[in-house]
Amino acid sequence: MTQDELKAAVGQAALTYVKPGTVIGVGTGSTVNHFIDALAASRLPLAGAVSSSDATTARLSAHGIAVLEPAAVDRLAVYIDGADEIDGTGCMIKGGGAALTREKIVADLAEQFICIADESKRVDVLGRYPLPVEVIAMSAVQVARRFAALGGDAHLRSGVLTDNGNPVLDVRGLRIADPLAMESEINQWPGVVTVGIFARHKASVCLLGTPLGVQTLVF
Ligand code: 5RP
Repeated sequence: MTQDELKAAVGQAALTYVKPGTVIGVGTGSTVNHFIDALAASRLPLAGAVSSSDATTARLSAHGIAVLEPAAVDRLAVYIDGADEIDGTGCMIKGGGAALTREKIVADLAEQFICIADESKRVDVLGRYPLPVEVIAMSAVQVARRFAALGGDAHLRSGVLTDNGNPVLDVRGLRIADPLAMESEINQWPGVVTVGIFARHKASVCLLGTPLGVQTLVF
């Protein structure tokens, strides 16, 4: 199976977690795009969706799925999103699509984070994938220096601004053995909007696409 077929399989499998008549949170990326298309094809009646990016809003709207502002909901039963990496405890690196801040905001509303990913995303220790960090532009060099002190090599993602209008640093060379501690530390640095470590908002469940079928990992 191709990677895209594995993404489509987990997008389809995530429908199991969608209860008719509810509002759900929807992430961003190619795996989530498969989920949105499967959701639309399923004709499951929804009260709406809270979106994590302009791209996801456009796709949901094109399918006629109502998009609600986060302020309009108290809680979401589920947030469904992809990941760039996921470890054996459900901690993730996210932000490859530069939507990390809004993804964390919507995930924070949800009882359960359902991660959908192909098997290439499963790692023992986070950090092989360059860690995305959304920053305020004037802080980028200062934040990059702080990463250098931790052994990380940070570079601005060329030609990319987030939906919030901010640049993204991609940091190579980190070995994130304690995701919760590193997320907490980096979140304190002035100028950091969001670090793409999702440990405080880790996955509750991961639907992992493999050639043998979709595996369900519960954390
Ligand atoms: C976007 C993300 C995505 O979930 C992550 O990049 C995975 O993307 P894809 O499903 O295209 O592999 O965090 O900011």
